[in-house]
Amino acid sequence: MSIHHPRVVFVSGCSAGFGFRSARALARAGHHVVAGVRTFSRHGQQYAAELKALRAEGHRVTLVPLDVDRDESVAHAVDAAMQAAGRIDVLVNTAAYSVLGPLEACRPKQLLAMFDTNVVGALRLFRAVLPIMREQGGGRIVQITSGLGRVVLPFMGVYAASAWAQEAFAEALAYEAQGFGVEVAILEPAGYRRGGRPRKPVGDEARLSAYQDALIAFGERVNQSDPAEGDPEEVARAVVELVEAEKVPLRTPVGEAAVELLRMRRTLSAEAFEREIYERTGLHAVYEDEEEEADVSAVLAAAEAAVSPGESDDETPAGRE
Ligand SMILES: NC(=O)c1ccc[n+]([C@@H]2O[C@H](COP(=O)([O-])OP(=O)(O)OC[C@H]3O[C@@H](n4cnc5c(N)ncnc54)[C@H](OP(=O)(O)O)[C@@H]3O)[C@@H](O)[C@H]2O)c1
Repeated sequence: MSIHHPRVVFVSGCSAGFGFRSARALARAGHHVVAGVRTFSRHGQQYAAELKALRAEGHRVTLVPLDVDRDESVAHAVDAAMQAAGRIDVLVNTAAYSVLGPLEACRPKQLLAMFDTNVVGALRLFRAVLPIMREQGGGRIVQITSGLGRVVLPFMGVYAASAWAQEAFAEALAYEAQGFGVEVAILEPAGYRRGGRPRKPVGDEARLSAYQDALIAFGERVNQSDPAEGDPEEVARAVVELVEAEKVPLRTPVGEAAVELLRMRRTLSAEAFEREIYERTGLHAVYEDEEEEADVSAVLAAAEAAVSPGESDDETPAGRE
């Protein structure tokens, strides 16, 4: 693809977070953005207003309803994009959510629902855009996964499993679709302050008490070691670069924590890497303490604080962004 001409970019998950920021940055860079939005609920009002303001300023932003859990919604959104823009040069997949907590406390239904959005949702979009890109003679897919797309931290395993699956799909697609001129780029962000809904806690609270001490240690240690967050605009800038680049690498980690974690995985022995994870998550020796009565809400609050420092709920977006 040539670097200079404006692209038609379909972005999923634009009611908040990286999707919104990417849509805004791409529109400002002169691209025609088709922004897929499920709901502009209370937390998303400011983002809705900003996307509309961009249009009023003359930027090309087309809003389309999109629920990636539903085949027909994906089909309608892609049809609407084609009607508005006549082509889709790039798909940027960001729509997803994370579930936080010990694996044992995740009910199978909760896991399946998350996979339906994060993994099958990505597949639904791939399936909808690939025939269009093939017909056009090429295109590009940018899949946002995570710094946990190739490594795992305790209590993030449920979510990480979906990020690993997204990576596997995207990597396979890179091989399978290159013959049609379709390139795939995987973007692996570190943890950033988020603009959307809070992470969902694992649902089976009765199973949490056994993990109380470990969750609190995890919360304290992660907060200590990562006191300052990066600027989430880094992710939007990386998306614009991946949209505009002449050629794209298969993987791009963004943010210091993601770069470091992936470097450790690459360079340390398996044993040394495991030791680092125990050390950084405060889990060693936790289980030696005597059992105490569990306070489930404190446990979940500590865990949420650990992975989203500075953010306590999704109903007060002002000041968060
Ligand atoms: N934030 C981080 O620190 C971080 C770090 C690494 C990786 N990531 C990954 O990056 C991606 C985006 O994260 P984010 O921080 O931008 O999350 P976010 O702020 O919560 O935004 C998620 C977006 O996805 C949308 N979405 C969720 N389910 C959907 C569905 N079924 N159909 C359509 N849209 C749906 C949400 O729409 P609604 O408003 O309708 O829910 C929202 O627009 C996710 O894959 C996340 O796991 C995030």
